[in-house]
Amino acid sequence: MRILSGIQPSGKLHIGNYFGMMQPMVENMDRGELYAFIVNLHALTSVNDPQRLAADTMEAAADFLALGLDPEKCIFWVQSDVPEVTELAWILSTLTPMGLLERCHSYKDKVAKGIAANHGLFAYPVLMAADILLYQAELVPVGKDQKQHLEVARDIAIKFNNSFGETFVVPEPAISDSMATVPGLDGQKMSKSYGNTIGIFLDEKSLKKSVMSIVTDSAPVDAPKDPDKCNLYNIMKLFAPPERLKEIHELYVNGGAAYGYLKLELVDLLWEYFREARETREKLVDDPGFLREVLNKGAMKARDKAAGTLSLVRQRVGLIF
Ligand code: ADP
Ligand code: TRP
Repeated sequence: MRILSGIQPSGKLHIGNYFGMMQPMVENMDRGELYAFIVNLHALTSVNDPQRLAADTMEAAADFLALGLDPEKCIFWVQSDVPEVTELAWILSTLTPMGLLERCHSYKDKVAKGIAANHGLFAYPVLMAADILLYQAELVPVGKDQKQHLEVARDIAIKFNNSFGETFVVPEPAISDSMATVPGLDGQKMSKSYGNTIGIFLDEKSLKKSVMSIVTDSAPVDAPKDPDKCNLYNIMKLFAPPERLKEIHELYVNGGAAYGYLKLELVDLLWEYFREARETREKLVDDPGFLREVLNKGAMKARDKAAGTLSLVRQRVGLIF
C-alpha cells in the first residue's frame, strides 16, 4: 500500500494538524510505503515573506520528525525539491475543467473571508493532484477539510486515464471520523488561517494563554451542561485518559464542571502529552545540517519515483517525439 500526505509550512503546526494528518501518518509507517512531505509551493499561495517561509519549512520538518516520523521508514522531503511536480501540475491543469475548481469550498471560503485570490490559490487543487498522482499514491490520510481536494485529484486521474490510457492510480482518502475536525479556540475548525489554534510546541506560558482563551458559555458551575456542545470538552477528550474523561463527563451532565479548573488541567495534559516530542524537537532545531541532509536524501528518493511517472505521462500526452 502506498500512503502519501503533505502539510503546509504556512505557520506553526497545531493540534488539529496533529490529529488530522500527522498522527495518522506516523501510525501508518509500518503499513506500507509512506510518502510524507512539506508542501512549501502550496504555502507560497498565502505566505510572501521569504525568511518566514524558509524558517517555517524547516520547523515543520523538525515537528514531523519529533512527532515520530522515522525518515528510515518513509520518504520525507520538501515539495519544491522535486520540480517534476510543477510540470505534472501544468499538464493536469490542461484537462481540469474550470467548474471543478470553481466549486472548491476551500477556495470559496478564503475568497469570502476577503483573502485576495491569486491564480495559485485557485489552481491549488491541481498542484495537490499532481503531488498525489506523481507518486501513484493509493491512500491519502487527511483531515475532513481536504476531502473535496481528494475528490478533485480522483476526478483528474480518471479523466486522464480515460483520455490517454491507464496511467494513474486513483487515490482513496483516509479520514478518521473521530479526528475528522478538531475544534479551535472559538469552536470553528482549528486552522492557522483562522487564528484559533493551540500550537503543538508552544512554550508553557503561551500554551496556558491559548488554553485559557478557549471559548465556553457563561452557565454557572453547578448547572448541568451538554459536554458534546462544549468546545473545551471536545478538545479535552483528545488528551484526557479514559477514566478521567468519564469523571469529567459526569461533572458536565450532573453539574460541577468548573471551566477554569478544567482549562488548567488541560494545560498540564497537553504539556505532558507532547513532552517527549518537544525534547526531541529542541535537538533537531539545533542541528539544521542534519535536518537538511534528511530532507535531501528524501528528495533524491522522491525524484527517482517522480521521474518514472513523469516520463510515462510525457509519452502519453505527446511530449516525447
Ligand atoms: P490549516 O487549516 O491550519 O492551514 P492545513 O490546511 O495546512 O491546516 O492542514 C494540514 C493537515 O491538517 C490537513 O490534512 C488537514 O486536513 C489537517 N487539519 C487541519 N486542521 C484540522 C483540524 N482542525 N482538524 C483535523 N484536521 C485538520
Ligand atoms: N492541501 C493540503 C492541506 O492544506 C496539503 C497538501 C498538499 C496535501 N498536497 C497534498 C495533502 C497531497 C495530501 C496530499 O492540508
